[in-house]
Amino acid sequence: MLTVSSITAGYYEDIDILNDVSLKVDKGKVVGIIGPNGAGKSTLLKTIFGYLKPRKGKIIFMDKDITGFKPYELKRMGISYVPQDFSVFPQLTVEENLKLGAWIFKDEKDKIYEKLDAIYQQFPNLAKKRNKKAVWLSGGELRMLEIAKAAMTDPKLMLIDEPSAGLAPKFVEEVYERIKQHSFEGISILLVDQNIVKAVEISEYLYMIEIGRVKVEGPKEFFEKKLEEIIKSSLVGK
Ligand SMILES: Nc1ncnc2c1ncn2[C@@H]1O[C@H](COP(=O)(O)OP(=O)(O)OP(=O)(O)O)[C@@H](O)[C@H]1O
Ligand SMILES: [Mg+2]
Repeated sequence: MLTVSSITAGYYEDIDILNDVSLKVDKGKVVGIIGPNGAGKSTLLKTIFGYLKPRKGKIIFMDKDITGFKPYELKRMGISYVPQDFSVFPQLTVEENLKLGAWIFKDEKDKIYEKLDAIYQQFPNLAKKRNKKAVWLSGGELRMLEIAKAAMTDPKLMLIDEPSAGLAPKFVEEVYERIKQHSFEGISILLVDQNIVKAVEISEYLYMIEIGRVKVEGPKEFFEKKLEEIIKSSLVGK
C-alpha cells in the first residue's frame, strides 16, 4: 500500500529532521511509529502527506510514485491525515465539520450524505451531537470527530498522529477500538503514538524513530518482548 524509501526531509534547507527513513505499510494493517518527543514522528507523517517535500528518497502509494504530490492530490488518491493538533472548526457543528472533511466530493452531494449516514453508524456519539457546535464536545469526542472527518473520503490509508494524547482512559479505549475497526474494514493505518503500550497492542509492525532515523523495527511480538526495556530507555531519553 505504502512504501517510503530512504527519505530525508526537513523544514529548513540545511537542516535534516528525517534522515534516510524507510518504512512499509501493507493493506489493512496497522503500523505503529514510536519514539521520544522531537524524534521526527509528526514530520514523517507531514512528509508522507505532502506538506514537506523530501530532499532525497521516494514515496510510493499503490504502486505510484507520489513523492512531491500535494495534500489535496493525495486526499483524492485515498490518503487521509489526522494531525496531532486539532483541525476541526470549533464554531461549526459536528455535521458541518464532517462535510468539510468530504470537500473533495463537493460536487457529489448524494455521496456526501451517503457517507455521513455510514459515519453516524460507526460513530453513534457523533450522530447524537450532529447539530452541536464542535466547541461543546469533550476531548474524546473531538478526537472521534477528527478521525470521522478523515474517514469521510473513504480513504485507503489513514495517517494518524497521537490519537490518544491528553484523553481520559475511557476515551482512549474508544479511539483505539475505532482505529482497529477501520483496519478490519481494509483501511491501512500508519499510527504515530507516544503511548507505547497501546501502540504495540494495536500495531502489527512497528518502527521506533530516534533523532530522525529508524532505530529499531520489527513485528509486534518483538516489541512486546522489549516493551519494558523500550519504556525505560525512552524515560531517560536515550
Ligand atoms: N513547523 C516546524 N518548523 C521548524 N521545525 C519544526 C517544525 N515542526 C517541528 N520541527 C522540529 O522538527 C523536529 C521533529 O519534530 P516532530 O514534531 O516531527 O517530532 P515528534 O516526534 O512528532 O515529537 P512529539 O512526540 O513531541 O510530537 C523537532 O526538532 C522540531 O523542533
Ligand atoms: Mg509529534
